[in-house]
Amino acid sequence: MAEPAGGVRIKLWDGPVRIVHWLLVILIAFSWWSSEDHLNWHRWSGYAIIGLVLFRIYWGFAGGGAARFASFVKGPRAIAAYAAKIGRRDVATTPGHNPLGAISVLALLAVLLVQVGTGLFVVDIDAFEGGPLSDRVSYDTGRALAQIHELSFRALQALVVLHVGAVLFYAIWKRTNLIGPMITGQRTLPTDPGFKGAPLWRLAAGVVLAAAIAWALSKGLRF
Ligand code: HEM
Ligand code: HEM
Repeated sequence: MAEPAGGVRIKLWDGPVRIVHWLLVILIAFSWWSSEDHLNWHRWSGYAIIGLVLFRIYWGFAGGGAARFASFVKGPRAIAAYAAKIGRRDVATTPGHNPLGAISVLALLAVLLVQVGTGLFVVDIDAFEGGPLSDRVSYDTGRALAQIHELSFRALQALVVLHVGAVLFYAIWKRTNLIGPMITGQRTLPTDPGFKGAPLWRLAAGVVLAAAIAWALSKGLRF
């Protein structure tokens, strides 16, 4: 696939972003599969997803370079300007998520928050199975949240189809390989955006914090 001539090869996606991404892909598929008859595994997969999503949100503020929300979340004007040119058959050169893609990233994270947030409280129809906090709400509330849990999964599926469709659109129409960089972290760009990584202690703090919250929720906040 085309790369800008005479460009510089940079580290675009850091390890945490890539690991979170591909673990989310695997665990969401697993959560889907396990949601019918393996609710114990479904809950464990859900706790891992809670940790990953919380960490990714933290990393959007505390991480460096292209991981930071401030580096890719843009206002309506920038989004409209980018959307107006989206059909052009040129190689995409945004260092990180483009202004339109940023909306999809935020939407995916928001729907995932709803998915795991409702999962914590859901109760099944015969009140036999539920999330770890389901005993803190009434049966009717737990059932209503179960319906939202199901609806938000439909929304998540739609967003993922759109997301993968967009990545394929870039690959086929714009001859821009976005998948390679999400695997290797490396990307060739016309100029070096001069991204700086975050110190290791911030990574460690985020991992510990996200894991601790996920663990506490898995215990139903009972210690
Ligand atoms: C359950 C399915 C998926 C979810 C929830 C998901 C979610 C996300 C999220 C949240 C990001 C933003 C990454 C970040 O900044 O941390 C992202 C980026 C990305 N994803 Fe996925 N993804 C899924 C499946 C896939 C699949 C199957 C592919 C490969 C075909 C893919 C390819 C990519 C690529 C290439 C990017 C970077 C896009 C860019 O350069 O702006 N994703 N995804
Ligand atoms: C991204 C993460 C998740 C996904 C994709 C997901 C998806 C699903 C789906 C598709 C169902 C079946 C809905 C139906 O047809 O009735 C379901 C049910 C359920 N989920 Fe999740 N879920 C996630 C996270 C969680 C979490 C974190 C918990 C709790 C720890 C949880 C607990 C449950 C329970 C108890 C049910 C059964 C409820 C019922 O029978 O109505 N889920 N989930």
